[in-house]
Amino acid sequence: MLWPMRVLLTGGAGFIGTHTALELIAAGHEPIILDDLSNADRDAVARTESLAGASIPFYEADARSEVEVRRVLQAHAPVDAVIHLASLKSVSESTSDPLRYYDVNLASAVSVLKAMLSTGVSTFVLSSSATVYGLPEQLPVTEETPTTLALSNPYGKTKRVIEEILADVVTANPAFRAISLRYFNPVGAHPSGLIGEDPLGAPTNLMPIVVDAAAGRLDAVNVYGDDYDTADGTGVRDYIHVMDLARGHVKAIENSGSGYEVFNLGTGRPVSVLELLDAFEKTNGVEVRRVIRERRPGDVAASYADPTKANRQLGWVAERSIADACADAWHRELLRSTVSS
Ligand code: WQD
Repeated sequence: MLWPMRVLLTGGAGFIGTHTALELIAAGHEPIILDDLSNADRDAVARTESLAGASIPFYEADARSEVEVRRVLQAHAPVDAVIHLASLKSVSESTSDPLRYYDVNLASAVSVLKAMLSTGVSTFVLSSSATVYGLPEQLPVTEETPTTLALSNPYGKTKRVIEEILADVVTANPAFRAISLRYFNPVGAHPSGLIGEDPLGAPTNLMPIVVDAAAGRLDAVNVYGDDYDTADGTGVRDYIHVMDLARGHVKAIENSGSGYEVFNLGTGRPVSVLELLDAFEKTNGVEVRRVIRERRPGDVAASYADPTKANRQLGWVAERSIADACADAWHRELLRSTVSS
């Protein structure tokens, strides 16, 4: 692998993208960001640059435009890899607006792959999701755990279909390599508090909702079900700090092999809703009111990773704890609220 690698991050102005750009620069590589700013703030790129102490070329563009993606790849030739993060990602929204999800998520992946093949860029990393496992048949989840298209949401189906597309593109182009990174639940923020999840709309995932409740923007956290077959009855997930997740992308482009490969990016540590709430209160010295509600349709009881394959083959281990994620998420909130006040 040649150093430094020049890497295009589609959707790179978002939560995962900004943290991944930072980790790429820290490893001596050169990120380029393309983002349509539909779910990200242009200022996040500037804050990432100030943290990195380096400038990051930025292009406001739709990743569904093969012409625009190709133009960026040609302008920065030779580009060594593309990390494809441009995607809609709300499970609940995908259920109510499936065609928008199939359009944005599938069309952007196809356009980016076509632009890469026509410009000789041969490494593609997909931001995929543990959602593709549906209701996991076994726990912890390995990369051999059966995935399914019988998923309860179009979001997960788009990720599963793109993975099939990658396998076919690699078969047709033996020199091309594709890596699918199946994220578990990304949480936290950069320790500086300058970048973080920063949802533009009302969040549906747990950690930003906990932050909203702790900040007084919500009366309480709705705990969706306490009657699951888990230790305390609430849903269990694998919450991975975004800084660990970001470094997983760097290790993937530096250490993966050839062909099409899949890696689970998780901590391997199961955490329940109530455990996360308690960790947040204890770590940050704040109260988070909670109300037990009915289960949320589509939720699975438990999902957490066996990260052995990524540990061994990518030389990557998630190092940060749930307490670190709670501290960093709250620090980001405190900084945001002082800056915006
Ligand atoms: C986690 C746990 C809920 C909110 C989804 C996608 C995944 C990723 C993250 C994009 C569950 C419980 C939640 C709340 C709660 N998205 N919960 N009250 O559903 O595991 O994963 O979002 O990449 O792909 O599938 O994440 O944070 O929504 O839920 O009790 O207000 O928290 O029931 O047990 P999920 P989540």
